[in-house]
Amino acid sequence: MANPSEFDPKDFRNALSMFATGVTIVTTRAEDGAAVGMTANSFNSVSLQPPMVLWSLAKNARSLPVFANAPFWNVHILSNDQDALSNRFARAGEDKFAGLELDECPSNMPLIRGCSARFQCRTAFQYEGGDHIIFVGEVIGYDRTDTPPLLYVTGQYAVAAHKSGLIATAPAETGVRPEAASGPDPYSEDMLGYLLGRAHYQFMARFRPALKRLHISDAEFFLLSLLSVRQPLSAADVASHMAYTGCEFDLPALQAACARDLLVSHGESQDMFSLSPAGTETILHILAAAKAVEADLIGNMGQLQSIALRNLLKTMLTASDPGLPKLWTAPAP
Ligand SMILES: Cc1cc2nc3c(=O)[nH]c(=O)nc-3n(C[C@H](O)[C@H](O)[C@H](O)COP(=O)(O)O)c2cc1C
Repeated sequence: MANPSEFDPKDFRNALSMFATGVTIVTTRAEDGAAVGMTANSFNSVSLQPPMVLWSLAKNARSLPVFANAPFWNVHILSNDQDALSNRFARAGEDKFAGLELDECPSNMPLIRGCSARFQCRTAFQYEGGDHIIFVGEVIGYDRTDTPPLLYVTGQYAVAAHKSGLIATAPAETGVRPEAASGPDPYSEDMLGYLLGRAHYQFMARFRPALKRLHISDAEFFLLSLLSVRQPLSAADVASHMAYTGCEFDLPALQAACARDLLVSHGESQDMFSLSPAGTETILHILAAAKAVEADLIGNMGQLQSIALRNLLKTMLTASDPGLPKLWTAPAP
């Protein structure tokens, strides 16, 4: 163990960053009424009765003189989609409140919208804390929404997910990690491929009756959904967009979809494809059924988990992308 005065500051910071926190913006007003605010993850609850919270501010922060003299301040617990706002309030020297609509409160301190929770505070104590000043406030008002919060851990923004009881871990009391498997372990319930595959099939199974009713194969469903996002497409475009599904859609297959009145071909050589009116109606029906399944699933999982799941699935799509054309971003003109 190193002597505290010999701690490497970066290493010490990295160790502290293992503690996951939420992200807040603390706001107040200067004597001339100007709105002042900064991003802080040092926020914590202190007392329930009386209701008190704390946070700490670096002594070299530009806002320190204002907070040191402020009788009131507001703490905003940022929601998962407010990371850009957090960055804005963590940068010195720009008009942090530009374009922000503020709510009113009795203390007249700036109250930012769209947060997970907000605490209106009266300064109760200030303490020396090394290179920071610790502010303790008495909470005089608060509100909250159901929007999941933004998190900060290992120096990065994160979203919260409740831990699934299904993931195998060591018993918490022993703190011992599971033994490495002694023999080959080709297939387990934690295998990512199994989890992804099973989640996909369980999801699809819920709206497969709609596919059956409309006599649409899985491959045709992928094709129609692709064209519902972007059309017209050439046979080559369709093939490259659909490559990840394993379903091969070549020119004869597209012509067959035209013969089934799902698509229409156009262009001089009839080599561009769009949804036919019947194809449009079919995909709208199926997507409505899929959306209903999704709404039901989100209802069961909860908003917090579904935001975390979307985030992780997008991370995985990026990590496993073999260089597919971008579907959701408009192509260069
Ligand atoms: C996620 C995050 C958390 C932060 N937490 C704190 C904190 O708790 N205390 C602090 O003094 N600075 C913290 N900072 C840095 C300040 O937001 C930053 O120094 C800001 O420029 C201070 O504003 P000011 O100089 O206008 O006072 C944090 C920054 C980020 C991105």
